[in-house]
Amino acid sequence: MAFDIDRYTETSVSVNWSDLDLEVFRREPLPETSLRTLRYMADVEYHTVCYTRDLLTTPSHREADVSAFMTMWNREEFWHGEALAAVLAMHDITVDYDQLKASRLKLGWKDRLDPIKQSVLGGLVGQDFVAVHMSWGAANEWSAITAYQFWAPVGSSIMQPDDVRHVMGHLMSGPEGRRAARKVDDSISGMPGLAGLTIVQDALDRLGVAA
Ligand SMILES: [Fe+2]
Repeated sequence: MAFDIDRYTETSVSVNWSDLDLEVFRREPLPETSLRTLRYMADVEYHTVCYTRDLLTTPSHREADVSAFMTMWNREEFWHGEALAAVLAMHDITVDYDQLKASRLKLGWKDRLDPIKQSVLGGLVGQDFVAVHMSWGAANEWSAITAYQFWAPVGSSIMQPDDVRHVMGHLMSGPEGRRAARKVDDSISGMPGLAGLTIVQDALDRLGVAA
């Protein structure tokens, strides 16, 4: 699996939606269930900066390619949050900083302990942590991509259980959802040392999402 970091840093741009006619949502608004899902995804996108914070406390920050990747990734994810907020704004739903801050505060001690936990675990695992981190990131990104094609467990550690169940049920229930989950699992298990992993399908089972 080759990744050209130089090319990525040169071509990384913020997502542009000025060519999209968002006014269409005034005439044909999205249903309530989709808006709740989009709200969840917007929170997850904005939350990337917290993942970045936690990961910069690990051996990953010493790898030039990985830290270059994380810098670009963090910036791109911010703009994904802004794009989703623009869609939500057309439905008179405001995603503002106070709300984001409130959802982070709700995490309480977890939010405060996460960087310490990551740092200790990363330090113990040592250089191999970089591979763990990148594999974990790939699994999250694949599930996010699949979510946007519309059916995913990204964000499930930061959102309320009730919201996670709603989003997974909304996007991934039924045979189509299972097929998409299998596709993500197949991509993950194609990485070195991860053969046979079925984390996405297992997550759906745990959440009780109908197959
Ligand atoms: Fe994103």
